[in-house]
Amino acid sequence: MPCELANPRTAMVIAVLFNLKPATEDQSTQEEEEPPDSYAEWDDLETVLAVRDALSSEGEVVLIEANEDCFDRLRRIRPDIVFNIAEGQRGLSRESHVPSMLEFLGIPYTGSSPLTLSLCLDKARCKEILVYHAIPTPRFVLIDDGSSAEKAAQLPFPLMVKPVMEGSSKGITNDCLVWNMDDCRRQTAKLLRLYRQPVLIEEFLPGSEFTVGVIGNYPDVQVLPIVAIRFDDLPPGANPIYSYEAKWVWDRAEAPLGIFSCPAKIPSDLARQIADTAVLAFRALDCRDWCRIDMRLDAQGQPHILEINPLPGVLPDPNQNSCLPKAARAAGMTYNQLIRAVFHAALNRYGVAKTQPRALREHN
Ligand SMILES: Nc1ncnc2c1ncn2[C@@H]1O[C@H](COP(=O)(O)OP(=O)(O)OP(=O)(O)O)[C@@H](O)[C@H]1O
Ligand SMILES: [Mg+2]
Repeated sequence: MPCELANPRTAMVIAVLFNLKPATEDQSTQEEEEPPDSYAEWDDLETVLAVRDALSSEGEVVLIEANEDCFDRLRRIRPDIVFNIAEGQRGLSRESHVPSMLEFLGIPYTGSSPLTLSLCLDKARCKEILVYHAIPTPRFVLIDDGSSAEKAAQLPFPLMVKPVMEGSSKGITNDCLVWNMDDCRRQTAKLLRLYRQPVLIEEFLPGSEFTVGVIGNYPDVQVLPIVAIRFDDLPPGANPIYSYEAKWVWDRAEAPLGIFSCPAKIPSDLARQIADTAVLAFRALDCRDWCRIDMRLDAQGQPHILEINPLPGVLPDPNQNSCLPKAARAAGMTYNQLIRAVFHAALNRYGVAKTQPRALREHN
C-alpha cells in the first residue's frame, strides 16, 4: 500500500482534521427542508490551508477530511497528533465524533474532550453547568416538540429564541429577538421544524456584547484582548444582535461591517470582570488549549455568558472578521503564532516538548 506521508516518521506527523464547506453549487442540491445555513460552521479551503501552513514549521502536516473515510485514514497514517478543527458531519454529538475516534485510536489531539464539546454544543446543558458554578448566564426555558412556547411566559420580554445546538448563528436570524408571545410562538415553531431540535428561549441581555479568546490550560491560561461587538453599524432597523445576517450576509470580506473593536474600550474594572468570568467558564466546562467565550452585559452592567465555543472559528483573512484571530492580532500575535500557540498548549498538556515526536508516539 503506498504510504501517504512524504517523509515517514522522521518528523512529527501532524494531521489537520476538518470539514470542508461544499462549493456553492453543491449546496443548492441540498434537501428542500434542510435549513439554508446547513454548512455555516464548516471551513473553507483557505482556512484549512492556512492552518496547514501555520503548522508546517512543527512537522509534516497531512490533511484529513473528517468524512466517513477518516477513521481508516487515521488508522493507516497514525499521526503523532491531530490539530482538530472538524465541526462534525451530523447529529447532536457531531463535534465530539472526531475526538472520540482519536481517543479510541489513542491519538493525541488539540482542543477539548468529546464531553466538553458536546456539553458546549448543547447550550442548555452548558448553562446548567454554569448555573451550578454560580457563573451568570441569562435565564432560560427549553422547548421541545412536546412542550409549548407558553413556558416562556415566566420570563420577561423581549426574549431570544434560538436552536439549542447550533453555532455560527445558524438559526439565529434577525427575527429571533421577539417582543410578544405571538412572535415567540411563531419563531419557536419555525425553529423546531427547520432544525429538528429543542429551542432555547432566553432573557434578552440589552447591554454591550463581548467575545473573549482563551489559550492554554487552566491555570496556565492566556486571556486574549477582549473583542467588543457594536451594533450601530448594522443596517437601519436591524435588531442589536450578532445574527446570521450580521455574520454571513451583511458582513462581506469586500465590505466588512465595522462592528468590532479590539481591545474593547472599556474601564479596566469591567475588563477584569469579563476576563475573570471567561476563565471561570473555561474551567467549569473543562476546556482545553483554546476557546472563545461570548458574553453580554445585563441591564445592570453585569457580564453574563451567552455561550462557550471550544472549537472556535479561525478564518485567516483579517477582512473576514473572525474574532479569535482578531483578538490574537491585538495581542501582537500573527495568525501562524495563534495556531502554533494552540498546538503548543496541546503538546504541553501531553507533557511533550515540541522536538520529541517519539514521546508523543508513546501516547499512541
Ligand atoms: N440571551 C441573549 N441576549 C442578547 N443577545 C443574545 C442572546 N442570545 C444570543 N444573542 C445574540 O445572538 C448572537 C448569536 O447567539 P449565540 O452566540 O448563542 O449563537 P451561536 O450561533 O452559537 O454563535 P457562534 O457564531 O459564536 O457560534 C449573539 O452573539 C448575540 O448578539
Ligand atoms: Mg456565539
